[in-house]
Amino acid sequence: MFYMARLTIIKEGNPLLRKHSKPVDDFSPRVHELLDDMQETMLRANGVGIAAVQVGVLYRMAVLLTDEFGIVEIINPIIKAAKNLRVAGEGCLSCPGISGRVRRPHLVTVEFQDRNGQPHTQTFRGRDAVCCGHEMDHMDGILFIDKLQN
Ligand code: NI
Repeated sequence: MFYMARLTIIKEGNPLLRKHSKPVDDFSPRVHELLDDMQETMLRANGVGIAAVQVGVLYRMAVLLTDEFGIVEIINPIIKAAKNLRVAGEGCLSCPGISGRVRRPHLVTVEFQDRNGQPHTQTFRGRDAVCCGHEMDHMDGILFIDKLQN
């Protein structure tokens, strides 16, 4: 039996969004199911990224909907290189109705694990790099509204 469930996305003002998430050391079916549910929740909400904290789970993992690679799950990500700082528009599923311009690297190389714990190194460009940076900020309790440019 296989199905995905839609989870509740917590909103700005909820103190959980300001917590630091902890490293993931569990790559069991329970975590795979959570990742599946995060994906379903993101897609149903027309988002391009969702971090576990946004569904109330303080794990360092996120699901990205990238232009270049499709769905990418990043677990315990670490930025290895970042360049091409640019300002671009962003929003967040936890901050409905708010959008604004944020300065971020538009080329990032990230080391992370997949859902089976296997290590990967991947380079994200443009909007994908923005998405990756935005979701990694969630893992440290940072929201894009903290970084708005004039
Ligand atoms: Ni967000």
